[in-house]
Amino acid sequence: MILNPELNLTLRPMQYPEFFQLYKDSIKNIWTTDELDFSIDFEHLRDKVSPQEAHLIKRLVAFFATADNIVAHNLVLNFYKHVNSPEYRMFLGKQLFDEMLHVETYLLLVDNYIPDMEERREAFDAYKNIPSVKRKADFCFKYMDSIEKLDKLDTEEKQRQFIENLVCFAACVEGLFFFGSFAYVYYLRNKGLLPGLATATNWVFRDETMHIEGAMKALAAIKSEYPHLFDAKLEKRIHTMIEEALEVEMAFCSDALSFGVTGLSPALMYEYLQYVADQRLVQLGFAKKYKAKNPFTFMVLQDVQPLTNFFEKKVTEYQKGFEAKGTSVVFDEAF
Ligand SMILES: [Fe+2]
Ligand SMILES: [Fe+2]
Repeated sequence: MILNPELNLTLRPMQYPEFFQLYKDSIKNIWTTDELDFSIDFEHLRDKVSPQEAHLIKRLVAFFATADNIVAHNLVLNFYKHVNSPEYRMFLGKQLFDEMLHVETYLLLVDNYIPDMEERREAFDAYKNIPSVKRKADFCFKYMDSIEKLDKLDTEEKQRQFIENLVCFAACVEGLFFFGSFAYVYYLRNKGLLPGLATATNWVFRDETMHIEGAMKALAAIKSEYPHLFDAKLEKRIHTMIEEALEVEMAFCSDALSFGVTGLSPALMYEYLQYVADQRLVQLGFAKKYKAKNPFTFMVLQDVQPLTNFFEKKVTEYQKGFEAKGTSVVFDEAF
């Protein structure tokens, strides 16, 4: 049983081949930060970006500065500890590597975008000091702290608490907070801005899509083995959590767009986030709640962009994942 507190190290006979397959798929997606180049971004920040866009970018950098470290922390302390499948732990090993790459990517971003040391420090402290970024971090910490003291999932209530933690990080943090931020980046890319960040986002986006898929598969396995845990009360808690995540992300949006950015409004972002939230609800096995349409045509470009990357000067080896999965790949699931 996948939530059994006794350590399972048996790979033969293989109990969860779907997780092993996901691990095999995930190791085809390997990239390094050596392939990133933020030099054109630096010129854009100096010459092309409006003050309103500069504020939005500042908030994005503040979110990215620590977000993947929070995800990695939860992965090690909770996912790895409580999902008792050696196959899933193999996948988590690759996910942890991905998260460290993301941490390194956004460290590079901070170093390139913010020359001033004091301002760099502020970016790393944003999760404590900038209210809209802090709210997102606090949301994560709430669902981490609630299970911090759980050594063994030996009661149904503890098992439900862990399920909430999984849903929080898959559907709300990686699945909604990050996707909101990706939309801002692609909006800027659509205006011809920040090609370095756009390229980094293409790669992070693909990783995150796979991380969400992994956690959703873990949740599906839990649901099939412990259907009684998913009672009406738990379902209500999950719906309330996703509703709260939307609110938290919209507070970030109000701040990020507080000076107005042409072509991007809180109303449009709300529609987009509701559209994404519906995708997550469907992945979790629920009906769509918001029935919103994707209002961003520039996100449609996201489906094909990495294959015809008009910004990239260098051909990278990162096409491996595409060769393996075909041309429409993972983006279809979310968009
Ligand atoms: Fe990440
Ligand atoms: Fe992730």
